Amino acid sequence: MSKHHHDGGRKRGLWSSRFGFIMASAGSAIGLGNIWKFPYITGMHGGGAFVLFYILCIFLVGIPIMLGEMVIGRHTRRNPVGAFRSLRGGIWTVTGWLVVAAGFVILSYYCVVAGWTLDYLLLSLRGAFSGQNAAQVPGLFSKLLASDARQLFWHAVFMSSVVAIVLRGVSKGLEKANKIMMPLLFLILLFLAVYGVLSPGGAPALHFLFSPDWSKLTPLVLLEALGQALFSLSLGMGAMLTYGSYADDGTNLPAAACAISFMDTCVAILAGLAIFPIVFTYGMQAAGGPGLVFKTLPVVFSRMPAGTLFAALFFLLLVFAALTSALSLLEVVVAYYCDEKKWDRRRAALLIGFVIFLLGVPSALSNGILKDIVFIGERNFLDSVDFLASTVMLPLGGLLIAVYTGWALTTRVAKSEIEKGEVRFHLYPVWHFLIKYITPVLVALVFLNKIGVF
Ligand code: TRP
Repeated sequence: MSKHHHDGGRKRGLWSSRFGFIMASAGSAIGLGNIWKFPYITGMHGGGAFVLFYILCIFLVGIPIMLGEMVIGRHTRRNPVGAFRSLRGGIWTVTGWLVVAAGFVILSYYCVVAGWTLDYLLLSLRGAFSGQNAAQVPGLFSKLLASDARQLFWHAVFMSSVVAIVLRGVSKGLEKANKIMMPLLFLILLFLAVYGVLSPGGAPALHFLFSPDWSKLTPLVLLEALGQALFSLSLGMGAMLTYGSYADDGTNLPAAACAISFMDTCVAILAGLAIFPIVFTYGMQAAGGPGLVFKTLPVVFSRMPAGTLFAALFFLLLVFAALTSALSLLEVVVAYYCDEKKWDRRRAALLIGFVIFLLGVPSALSNGILKDIVFIGERNFLDSVDFLASTVMLPLGGLLIAVYTGWALTTRVAKSEIEKGEVRFHLYPVWHFLIKYITPVLVALVFLNKIGVF
């Protein structure tokens, strides 16, 4: 039996258990951002100091906004647009529109990148990396990018899987998929991290990740860490708001926000522990950039014992991570159409999935036939939508949500929402102070920096 929340005669889904809620939210947070992006930007920004500041951002910005989103979601039991409309309406409804629009945009290219991970999973299962030398492996990635057909195919496969899960609903679709995939992901990653740390590159990797070199810490690096914290925790886009709206009243939201942020950070660091020892063992570039996963790791997989197995495990993990994150992106938009437009979930998932698939087509072709067409600042289509979403829409969404939570949501509403059931939140004043004065200022700094004001 799946649980429902009755909302004026209409049924809305509920998580069947608190564990399910936490797994699904952790699944949303843990994604390509942790396993692909975190290691490469840590590598580019010099390691330890970046990691330390990233963790500080999780506390000062990440956890406060996450709790804010969950409180708004559970209090209103609505999608982002409906939530803001029912709380304040007016200008704040625009915040809801902004975040739902961001869902369309992010998912369209997220599916394309996730498609690459599926392609790499197949490549590794076929043993394509074994026997290849370091000069040949990066060529595999260029070949994939040059093939419009392959990218379109995997984009379609990935999107279909997302739709197939979302249309099953909250507890039978989202929750079940996450409960299976997330623990498996932890196990695979833990294994790879232990393997990495015990390898010859383990010691330099630990040094690189955990002993800060303060000379590498520039203001820009600080801002970069903040932006990464938002993206990695799935904030600023109403994902945690929507997932929070399916949580039952006794759920301890502050504890959930801390647990999810903790797991997300652990996975990012485990990914670093899996990747950097290999990078150091084989004398590769830590600052290898976005190609780190697709171009460098397979080189290593081609040389190490049982490399085919490790490669398959690793890309399977990336596929899981991407899939559970993509679920939350589609769910935000589907929740909007179900709540506000009264569509049924099946229809919403299929139709919106198809529209977002179409939106993603130019991204899938952006390194092939469309590669000469540039948009925002010399970027191809995929990089342009990524820029638009993660540097404009997300920080703006995060800022508005923080300002709303800190300044417009009354203590009476926020505190009583958090303390429903048996929950006591002794740190309420700390959270309230952060979300009112600290968080919005920090996010505003990132935003102004990203759009080039300073
Ligand atoms: N957090 C995910 C990652 O690390 C991506 C993601 C899923 C996301 N849902 C989101 C990012 C909502 C921002 C907003 O890959």
